[in-house]
Amino acid sequence: AGCAAIVTAAGSGNRLGAGIPKALVEVGGQPMLAYAVASMALAGIPTIIVTAPANELAAFEVVVADEQLQAAAARAWPELGIPPSIEVRIAAGGASRQASVAAGLEVLAEMERPEVILVHDAARPLTPPEMIARLADAVSEEQGAVIPGLAVADTLKRVDDDGFVTGIIERAHLRAIQTPQAFSTDLLARAHAYGAARASDEALAATDDAGLVEAMGEAVRVIDGDAAASKITTAADLAALELRLAALG
Ligand code: C5P
Repeated sequence: AGCAAIVTAAGSGNRLGAGIPKALVEVGGQPMLAYAVASMALAGIPTIIVTAPANELAAFEVVVADEQLQAAAARAWPELGIPPSIEVRIAAGGASRQASVAAGLEVLAEMERPEVILVHDAARPLTPPEMIARLADAVSEEQGAVIPGLAVADTLKRVDDDGFVTGIIERAHLRAIQTPQAFSTDLLARAHAYGAARASDEALAATDDAGLVEAMGEAVRVIDGDAAASKITTAADLAALELRLAALG
């Protein structure tokens, strides 16, 4: 019963240029991973598997200790109080994000089976706990995949290889997709088995877990995301996040 989360943090973060894994980079005095795990605890998710680079497991253990999670929660969400104590396990990730999620699923398979699994990127440290809880609550037997999306504000155009416009894209029906993505455990396990069996199929090189569900032809529902859940990829993203935390006091 219940809900568990896989927080992917096994990426190198090369585009950030920090020289350490992105999830360990500090913002507002705390590592990004500590915020991501604390946000899950504040949302009431009791079990979390963090996928880490295989040679960094010890460093990651330190970051998910109770005191560190409490410090991150106090920094980002002081109004929500102290997060409850949760079970966090660190697992070695794989060569791709998809492989890392699969590694997380393997660890979960040995534990008490949750009904719902959230898959989240540590690279979205300030995702509001309220949004996380909303996604977990939206998964049901009839709707096994629910993901957060934001309407697109910019005008979107398609261009050719030389940069010339070849068409405009109707944006009313577009959404920029975030994480966490919420799934019934059965559906996520089936989607990953499906993806693993077709690993050489480039058309199936999904950048998210919902993409695997879509490839199986099953319904994925998009509900409102939150601008605060934005993803940290570049040094500029990190600087913006630093400012947001500074504004909190
Ligand atoms: O590189 P990017 O930011 O798109 O990665 C998205 C998320 O997937 C990050 O949280 C990263 O740590 C994670 N990841 C992973 N295993 C990999 C590659 C990326 O867990 N092999």
